[in-house]
Amino acid sequence: TVTTSPLSASPTAGSLLSAGPVPARHALPQAIRELASQRRAVILAHYYQNAEIQDIADVIGDSLDLSRRAANTDADVIVFCGVHFMAETAKILNPVKTVLLPDLDAGCSLADACPAEAFAAFRAQHPHHYVVSYINCSAAVKAQSDLICTSSNAVSLVQQLPADRPILFAPDQNLGRWVARQSGRELTLWPGSCIVHETFSEQALLKLRLDHPGAEVIAHPECLPNMLDLADFIGSTSKLLHRAETSDATAFIVLTEPGILHQMRLKLPHKTFHEVPGQDGCSCNACPYMRLNTLEKLWHCLATLEPAIELDEAVRTRALLPIQRMLEMSR
Ligand code: 13P
Ligand code: SF4
Repeated sequence: TVTTSPLSASPTAGSLLSAGPVPARHALPQAIRELASQRRAVILAHYYQNAEIQDIADVIGDSLDLSRRAANTDADVIVFCGVHFMAETAKILNPVKTVLLPDLDAGCSLADACPAEAFAAFRAQHPHHYVVSYINCSAAVKAQSDLICTSSNAVSLVQQLPADRPILFAPDQNLGRWVARQSGRELTLWPGSCIVHETFSEQALLKLRLDHPGAEVIAHPECLPNMLDLADFIGSTSKLLHRAETSDATAFIVLTEPGILHQMRLKLPHKTFHEVPGQDGCSCNACPYMRLNTLEKLWHCLATLEPAIELDEAVRTRALLPIQRMLEMSR
């Protein structure tokens, strides 16, 4: 049996009620599903979430999939099991809905690397540039951008921009370099990077390739250029999963956060997936921000409707424009 607190079905009543004790671990998945249905909540989860969160989510996807789902949902409450910029994007798209993030400290090194004031000064140095920002940035940076992109659509969006217009790309320099190479466009880059994707060891990758001849190396474009040079396929998390499904290879060396291996192994039990350790053999390839979310915190946010994302309305309306432009241009 599942113990849940006696909550009202009204999504606005939660914060006024005490959540009661967190159900026992074995009962949590069912308790979360029951609460989600009482709240008319949709649970969106990124591929880098813990397996147990992915297993109870309504939708699992990459940043683009999840923003599309957030844009189209008719749920009253959106629970975003991901990081802050993802939940913030959902709130930008849905100002009247309650958007919850199980742990408000789930940030992103890329978003942190690009403070809004410093970005404003950078833009002022390049007044004629068209500003393309990776979705991994704050609402305040989105509000200063002409177009948002994700790793899934960045190349195609940049290719659609007028050839005579210089482009400023922020905040991920590794993604930016890859997009520049793929699109043939010159990009002025903001010097940000992802602490997770910069950690993979080239030596460990070369050894894995020797140990598993025939294994395909698949990589996220946030990786450093020397690692991307060794990859057979580069793409967003959804594209990496799709590649594993459609490639003839039966073994893969995966250069991205290992949370995605859960879906790869579930969908393709007859194929083998190897993760790549970080330099010094550390397991710092797990995103410390993504992993802050837990089943307990997910249950708690549904029980209390907190922590909820709040945004300044002027920033939200300005940040909405480049997100809408992205959704229109990547239909
Ligand atoms: P995707 O858009 O590929 O899911 O990437 C999100 C992310 O944060 C990668 O580190
Ligand atoms: Fe940010 Fe990197 Fe974590 Fe993705 S993996 S959320 S880019 S810190």
